[in-house]
Amino acid sequence: MNPLDRQRQLELVREANRAPSVHNVQPGRWRFLPDGHVLLFEDLGRHLAVADPAGRDGRVSLGAEFEGLRIALSRHGLGLRDPDYAPPAAPETSPLRLVARSAVVAGDRTDALAPCVPLRHTYRGRFAPVDDAAVETVRALFEAYRDVIVISRPSEIGEIAEVHDHCTYQFVERAEYHAELYRWMRFSRRDPAWHRDGLTADCLGMSELERALAGALFHPRAFRVLRALRLARRLVAEAPQTRSAHAIAIFHRQRDEDAFAIGRRFYRLWLEVCRAGLSLCPMSAVADSPEGSAWVRQRWGVPEHSAIVNVLRIGKAPAGALRASPRLPAEELLV
Ligand SMILES: Cc1cc2nc3c(=O)[nH]c(=O)nc-3n(C[C@H](O)[C@H](O)[C@H](O)COP(=O)(O)O)c2cc1C
Repeated sequence: MNPLDRQRQLELVREANRAPSVHNVQPGRWRFLPDGHVLLFEDLGRHLAVADPAGRDGRVSLGAEFEGLRIALSRHGLGLRDPDYAPPAAPETSPLRLVARSAVVAGDRTDALAPCVPLRHTYRGRFAPVDDAAVETVRALFEAYRDVIVISRPSEIGEIAEVHDHCTYQFVERAEYHAELYRWMRFSRRDPAWHRDGLTADCLGMSELERALAGALFHPRAFRVLRALRLARRLVAEAPQTRSAHAIAIFHRQRDEDAFAIGRRFYRLWLEVCRAGLSLCPMSAVADSPEGSAWVRQRWGVPEHSAIVNVLRIGKAPAGALRASPRLPAEELLV
């Protein structure tokens, strides 16, 4: 007998969906079966065909959502069995693809990271001035982890800042990549999706003036002109924000590890950063670019058996600067 009534299910998936997802696409959909099993589906309508052709970032996001449900259940003395992965998909006819099967089980105590779930937000602005104690906090946090390399020397952070901007522009200058990204950007509160998903101007840390300008300049037609005039790179540059980081973390995992499991680990790592009073911003372009990741691997000695999952800039967000990103209504997450 499933002990979770619909109200409780909504509460749980709402919390699970606070997990980070690429472009805030929120790909996970849930079904609780009467016998206690839980099914996690991917909404294929949310797939980023250009930015994420192999679906890897989507799968990382799904893993994070799964971990989010596990954490949410822990508040109620419940647990979530480790998932069985659904077999690789045959050609899909349904917009939903089964990703994982699990079951609600008796649990133990509330997950120690649960209080951080509502506090964790991607922070994309400039960090507060670096202080040695915060850098030490990052080092201490990751010291025991073999899957994180920490960089804190300002000159090395500066190198990453340059590489990140270079890689970002290599992606964004492709018209089809840009068009897909633009579809997930929300410049105006009047956008009907402003409260639902995607990357809002608030979360991108834009002022009123910046969002008005960016809304016009980022439009694919305008961007094409800027590209031709060699002005577009500046529009997507984040070097000042990256340089303000207290530290950069290179997160790497075994090459053959399933992206779903990586997503679970990624979310917990992020919540730990939050628990330490710090914020982060992923810089996926470095990890996704063969050139960027090869350079990082060589420069900082990432082991050959590992793949770089992401490169994270970490620091203290200035007081009041964090913004909660939108989420879909929980009713839409239950299928
Ligand atoms: C796999 C993955 C890759 C991401 N890459 C980036 C990135 O390159 N740049 C960025 O600003 N945010 C990135 N993010 C953060 C998401 O945009 C963010 O989680 C989403 O917008 C929801 O916002 P929140 O984290 O504040 O809840 C990434 C998130 C995930 C899960």
